[in-house]
Amino acid sequence: MKRNISPSLLSADFTRLGEQIKLVEEAGATRLHLDVMDGHFVPNITFGPMIIDAIRRQTGITLDTHLMIEKPHRYLKQFIEAGSDVVIVHVEASEDLHRDLATIRELGARPGVAINPDTNFDTLEPYLGTFEYLLIMSVYPGFGGQKFIDGTLENMRKAAAARGDHGHLVAVDGGINLETIDRVYEAGIDIAVVGSDLFKAKDILQHFHELAG
Ligand code: DX5
Ligand code: ZN
Repeated sequence: MKRNISPSLLSADFTRLGEQIKLVEEAGATRLHLDVMDGHFVPNITFGPMIIDAIRRQTGITLDTHLMIEKPHRYLKQFIEAGSDVVIVHVEASEDLHRDLATIRELGARPGVAINPDTNFDTLEPYLGTFEYLLIMSVYPGFGGQKFIDGTLENMRKAAAARGDHGHLVAVDGGINLETIDRVYEAGIDIAVVGSDLFKAKDILQHFHELAG
């Protein structure tokens, strides 16, 4: 497999969540993407630590928790205690990003940062070297199944160029499918988060392999 695909459970069948996690693990996924939304930072509500705790008891796979919530510092401890390996906070939602990234590390998880499509990668300059996972949003966060925004490729290229000095993984989130995946890998990313395109496929296992290449 050439590409690292991180399934986003947002589009999974929640009545068969355990089964679907096993399926993508069997297909070769090494990390799962968990979308937490609060109805404030984004106009949608999903799930919280209770569901992540249940997922943690089901699998040993790396859990990347994408917090789309205002003032994420209020909940970092709960999401880490629930079993998140990487906790990703939005630069646009954090009151104090240095503090939040340090807290994540102190609590025993790996710090990650996400940036929205209209946030320039350069905003992260003061924080480079303090996070391990960088999530470039290629849609406005809130919903699965949106169209990839071409303008975000520039953030991916810059994030990939900065990786050499700072060692973060570069992930892309939103609108990834067989039509867009080559372009994001050409831009230099390490991980592609895929939600609807994967879980709405007729054969999830086979489609995972097509995406992974
Ligand atoms: C969007 C979420 C994504 C979402 C991606 O706000 O952060 O992780 O699941 O879904 P697709 O792959 O359908 O664009
Ligand atoms: Zn996400």
